[in-house]
Amino acid sequence: MSYDFDQLIDRRQNNSYKWDIKENELPMWVADMDFATAPAITEALKSRLEENAFGYNTVPEEFFASFINWWQDYHQVSMQKSGLMFCTGVVPAISSIVRKVTEVNDNVVILTPVYNIFFNSILNNQRQVLASPMSYHEGNYQIDFEDLEKKLALKETTLFIFCNPHNPIGKVWSQADLEKIGALCVKHQVLLLSDEIHCDLTHEGYQYRSFIDISSAISQQLIVCLAPTKAFNLAGLQTSAIYVENPALFEKVNRGINTDEVAEPNTFAIQAAIAAFTNGRPWLEALNSYLSQNRKILTDFFKKRFPEIRLIESQATYLAWLDCSALTKDTADFCQFLRETTGLILSEGDIFGGNGQQFVRWNYACPVSRLQDGLGRFEKGTREFLL
Ligand SMILES: Cc1ncc(COP(=O)(O)O)c(C=O)c1O
Repeated sequence: MSYDFDQLIDRRQNNSYKWDIKENELPMWVADMDFATAPAITEALKSRLEENAFGYNTVPEEFFASFINWWQDYHQVSMQKSGLMFCTGVVPAISSIVRKVTEVNDNVVILTPVYNIFFNSILNNQRQVLASPMSYHEGNYQIDFEDLEKKLALKETTLFIFCNPHNPIGKVWSQADLEKIGALCVKHQVLLLSDEIHCDLTHEGYQYRSFIDISSAISQQLIVCLAPTKAFNLAGLQTSAIYVENPALFEKVNRGINTDEVAEPNTFAIQAAIAAFTNGRPWLEALNSYLSQNRKILTDFFKKRFPEIRLIESQATYLAWLDCSALTKDTADFCQFLRETTGLILSEGDIFGGNGQQFVRWNYACPVSRLQDGLGRFEKGTREFLL
């Protein structure tokens, strides 16, 4: 079956957060794709809609089985059903976990630059963000393990929130990195939350390793967030799972998400996840191949037109992380200028912390004609910015 990723969908009509903008603007910021979803998912939702009854829901066995089978078949990772629980999203899960497993004023460690909402989940709950900035050299980010250990060793540090594959730098962490992180968290008795939401968007030749598989020691203090929502673009359906192998920790997290009322699914959350993980693979493979073409267009564009801007080589996600330090020391002004002069909306890197201030994040998950439009606007706006 072939899928039409070139189709332009008018999302201004459907309350899209991404497209709630002015008529002339073009959004390439938030991690939300502009493609029609997988036909297998649409079919499942249609058939659920036809049942015509939308009361409270339970979470059926098939929901958990679809996660277990997908991780086994696609990622060669084994999960036990007893460790899985439903949650209405990864961010609701993270915020609830922060509230339940840490105390007010505790330190929560993150590796910066990183997904900006991690900051909110920590700060909104009156915990302290303890950033361990990654080292950056010649376009390559590495974990500064010395700094990380210092921060994990502090007695006020109780949780480490980790992103794998990493948003925004697009890195798939190696087995060696995961083992080192796991060992440090065990040594300093820090709980580890691994957000693996981008794991199905790895580029050709890269396979992500889940923390679930790393060691039996870390599995006792590990919480993993999993979801079909990034790869299948289902964020509006609010569906995810949390995996916790340690029964005592499972109970704690489960109590937390129930107290926070984020443990019950809407009707479509269940059907969409099951359809994605049961019948969505051919669509996902076609999507990843379309995204790789877009990435090539973007890479060629920067090489030819703006060689001074470095596109960080990524291994996963549909987010390009652009080092604009040759243009500006603060991309907030640059992004605002691009928006005002051309309508193109990109994410300014500062929101991700670390050295993000000199970077821009570009979401290229859209039909190629729309990407070309974005590149044209970028070229025009940047030339004017540099005048
Ligand atoms: C790393 C990461 N975690 C979580 C989310 C959002 O998850 P959810 O929509 O399930 O709350 C995103 C969205 O971009 C993300 O990049």
